[in-house]
Amino acid sequence: MDTQQFIPKSLVNNTTKLSFTWKTPSNIALVKYWGKTEPQIPKNASISFTLSNSHTITTIDFVPKLNLKTNDINFELFFEGKKKEDFKPKITKFFERIIKYCPYLTTYNMVIHSENSFPHSSGIASSASGMSAIAMCLMSLEKSLSSAELTDEFINKKASFLARLGSGSASRSIEGPLVVWGNHPAIKGSSDVFGVPFPYEVHEVFKNYHDAILLVDKGEKQVSSTVGHDLMHNHPFAEERFKQANENLAKISKILQNGNLDSFINLVESEALSLHAMMLTSNPYFILMKPNTLEIINAIWKFRNKTGSKVCFTLDAGANVHVLYPANESENIAQFIDNELSKFCQKNHYICDVVGLGAVNV
Ligand code: PMV
Repeated sequence: MDTQQFIPKSLVNNTTKLSFTWKTPSNIALVKYWGKTEPQIPKNASISFTLSNSHTITTIDFVPKLNLKTNDINFELFFEGKKKEDFKPKITKFFERIIKYCPYLTTYNMVIHSENSFPHSSGIASSASGMSAIAMCLMSLEKSLSSAELTDEFINKKASFLARLGSGSASRSIEGPLVVWGNHPAIKGSSDVFGVPFPYEVHEVFKNYHDAILLVDKGEKQVSSTVGHDLMHNHPFAEERFKQANENLAKISKILQNGNLDSFINLVESEALSLHAMMLTSNPYFILMKPNTLEIINAIWKFRNKTGSKVCFTLDAGANVHVLYPANESENIAQFIDNELSKFCQKNHYICDVVGLGAVNV
């Protein structure tokens, strides 16, 4: 793995304040990442749809330090306008992990302002969009400090590499509409250390796929994904699961090119349930689904049987349900959600999203 390429070689000195703002999306995995080794190397390859409406906007002000003798990483963090001390340890750890690749970090006092488009504690993981937004701001700084020209391709690749060290799935939140993370023989250019856009021509139907995120449980998860990943060490079914995920990735690569929606539904729903099966069979075991998660899944199956719709579901590490459907069904599915599914959501809340293209400089 060539990680040396991410150590900057020729940086110029800067004495002025610089400021960058990036909007980066969340993503939803179709083939799931669950299980890793140090340093954030996935046990299997994964692929996700990049989302669009569910995003984070982050501004970082970089103020040059007057006293360059200190090698501390200094930053203040504001989330939705308020100082947020409890988010700081995770970001400090992230900065410590990437310092080798971003040595300029110690030469600035940073002020970070961040906000999410989705309601705070909606149960939507914000680490993917949050970490990728910081990574893009750092790459903008690196671009302006670098005496060599940095290509957009390199910037996206390194941003994904950095974001991964903050949160694995964040490596898939830089580009779109589909990103693969993890080395896989069927995916040209794929890597364990950064995400790559799906490298083959995607069938029309998947280019504007819809995702309605049904907010079943907005509370804090009882088991964090860090703990969940850890429980895959010594898990009795782990090796089979990693094999299954890699096989599913080879299969979905073909499906995304040929547009076979029945195969897509089968694979995506099986992946979601396999992920949760790993949680059920961990030790200690845990359940992140709620009764309403199952109500929604059953209602989707019933609706599909009755109408022949191509709607399907996936889950991330929580109780919320992502309802996936092709754009030509958007009116019917909106009605279906309003009439039959929204009653299973907290305060009837859900978020309508659609596949997107990745990070935007704002
Ligand atoms: O990036 P993490 O460590 O929060 O793990 C995310 C894991 C899943 O969301 C369950 C699956 C995935 O591939 O995104």
